[in-house]
Amino acid sequence: MWRDVAASEDVKDGRTLGIAVEGLDLVLWRSMTGRLAACDRRCPHQWADLETSGVVDGDELVCVSHFWRFDAEGRGTKLSAAGRRDEKAPIEVHEVQETEGRIQVRIR
Ligand code: FES
Repeated sequence: MWRDVAASEDVKDGRTLGIAVEGLDLVLWRSMTGRLAACDRRCPHQWADLETSGVVDGDELVCVSHFWRFDAEGRGTKLSAAGRRDEKAPIEVHEVQETEGRIQVRIR
């Protein structure tokens, strides 16, 4: 089922917004190119709160605690100083849509 969770204008490009819905703690985030995504609010590494510890970098959400990066599909990676991209644990993602200026998340 879809649940209305926020106004589209509450999640501007490059920003995050923590929400609680149906017993889930999630974070909405929008890429620098305007793509909206929703994932678990806690980082799968050491549980940092991605509303406050998550920074959008291009099309990824970066946890600044230890710099794991997540794309909109939940793939987790980390970039080495030399630019090598190592796989890390994924983050749970949730379907999201926007309709008439409102954001809805699909709850399974
Ligand atoms: S807690 Fe997020 S990368 Fe470590």
